[in-house]
Amino acid sequence: MFKKILVPVDGSEGSWRALEHAVALGEKFESQIEVVNVIQPYNNAALLAVPLDHNTVKQGNSELEKIGDKVLEMAEEKMAKYPHKVEYSIEVGHPSERIIAFAKKAECDAIVLGSRGLSGIAEFFLGSVSSKVAQYAGVPVLIVK
Ligand SMILES: Nc1ncnc2c1ncn2[C@@H]1O[C@H](COP(=O)(O)OP(=O)(O)OP(=O)(O)O)[C@@H](O)[C@H]1O
Ligand SMILES: [Mg+2]
Repeated sequence: MFKKILVPVDGSEGSWRALEHAVALGEKFESQIEVVNVIQPYNNAALLAVPLDHNTVKQGNSELEKIGDKVLEMAEEKMAKYPHKVEYSIEVGHPSERIIAFAKKAECDAIVLGSRGLSGIAEFFLGSVSSKVAQYAGVPVLIVK
């Protein structure tokens, strides 16, 4: 249990709080942590029209990729003292869908994420990503307030 924890981060305060909780859990369970940022191409229609060839999609998104790299760099700084393995990945596509697919592919046995993200509208308790991941992921999900 908790051998590999997926933490999706979007650079928001909520996602950094989620990372802190994942670290606390991971230190107890000696977990590997997978930190993932999903970049979302503006042209969603084009994304759906082409088969999801990672490289094709990526070419048109170098600006977005830079932001993704920056978010992962920030995560790396925060994880500097974590005593177990940490991996960082950028995924391209719809955030909730990519997060759920990544958890499956990488055989993560838990997901820890923030209740809200970059939109920061406090009106609802959950954002669309946290609510979809909670609803559709096949593994336990910890939503950090
Ligand atoms: N693009 C992303 N890549 C990785 N993780 C993400 C991404 N977007 C959201 N998350 C994760 O999901 C959590 C909740 O964010 P979510 O996007 O659901 O809320 P929001 O931005 O406030 O609302 P919405 O995006 O629905 O307008 C974040 O704290 C983060 O952990
Ligand atoms: Mg969001």
